[in-house]
Amino acid sequence: MKVRTNNLVQFDWNGPADGGIRGTVFVDGTTNTYELDDIDVVEVLEYALTARSKDDLRTFACDSLECETTAADDLLDTLIETGFLLPDDHENFVAYRTWMDKGWQRALFYHLRTRTADVERPTPPDDREETARSGESLEPPSATARDGPRLDLPDPDELPDESFRAVALRRRTHRNFSGTEMDLTTLSTVLHHAFGPVKAVFDHLEETPLAETEPGAIRRAGLRVYPVVQRCRDVPPGVYEYDIREHALVRIRTFDTVETADDAVTDAAHRQNHHTDAAVSLFFGSVFDHDQRWCPKSRGLRNSYLHVSEHAHRLVLVATALRLRNFVTPALKDERIDALVGVEGDDEAITYLVAIGE
Ligand SMILES: Cc1cc2nc3c(=O)[nH]c(=O)nc-3n(C[C@H](O)[C@H](O)[C@H](O)COP(=O)(O)O)c2cc1C
Repeated sequence: MKVRTNNLVQFDWNGPADGGIRGTVFVDGTTNTYELDDIDVVEVLEYALTARSKDDLRTFACDSLECETTAADDLLDTLIETGFLLPDDHENFVAYRTWMDKGWQRALFYHLRTRTADVERPTPPDDREETARSGESLEPPSATARDGPRLDLPDPDELPDESFRAVALRRRTHRNFSGTEMDLTTLSTVLHHAFGPVKAVFDHLEETPLAETEPGAIRRAGLRVYPVVQRCRDVPPGVYEYDIREHALVRIRTFDTVETADDAVTDAAHRQNHHTDAAVSLFFGSVFDHDQRWCPKSRGLRNSYLHVSEHAHRLVLVATALRLRNFVTPALKDERIDALVGVEGDDEAITYLVAIGE
């Protein structure tokens, strides 16, 4: 039998106080942690990135660790028992290969991370122990972490008095916008009605002890909205965070021209440029760190995506009600969109784009 280094291994190089190296592996739904006595063990694991026979590994370990055969065998047995080395045909490699072939690296990362969580006894990192459901309320998110200039949005208008049926049947995907500037009250109206239910949830979280909150409310607290303003009167082209609670835009960056704003979105959207000439392209973010904490099973990932979809599609309907066009896509280049919006992509990631305009 050949063995290979587990592909789901992480090393904490500065881990334990005594300066050792702590490795964590995910295998068969559990997590094993092991402290390496010697840095050269990493060399053995590196050698086993290609499937190796035990004889082959023993010889390599004896040479690189300068040890006897029995010590090398003990080490290999430990690495196999703890799951650092796995049989070459282990499910980890099969699943990894299937997902990699589809190019779903990041999705795999989220999936495996949530899949192996211990749901009966969630074990949040030490600094989060206070966050268990209790009599305290959960501080809803605010955009105050960003220190850019704030723009308070004007009072929104009511939505036109029209049946839901008429609006839903009129909704269409548009791949051409007219380049018309949006006025600020229209943007305010769109944001207010699209995210009103989210604001209500945040208010509920602030006012209600955690033990009594509606479960869906906590999940929604992981939602973020980043409008990239292309053409809007009184708002410089740029990337903003929409502060849902305060109904304000917090500036993250500005662009010199409208065209630069168009190009920045195209660049993040795999060179699709259907949003060009739109007024605003709104990016949706999920704070996976939050969602994972409150829904640690793998369905937490599904919930994250579905919540984004739910709110994005309300935005589409609100825009349609206001006779605005829309284009949606989740086809985003992760590194580009992370850089544009200023998120790191793992604990918080951008998953959807809705462009609106005339
Ligand atoms: C999740 C999702 C992803 C989409 N991605 C793209 C895309 O990358 N490029 C594109 O041109 N259209 C995209 N669309 C638009 C669909 O092609 C469009 O909804 C479909 O053609 C049906 O047309 P309709 O929206 O007018 O009913 C996407 C739509 C959805 C819901």
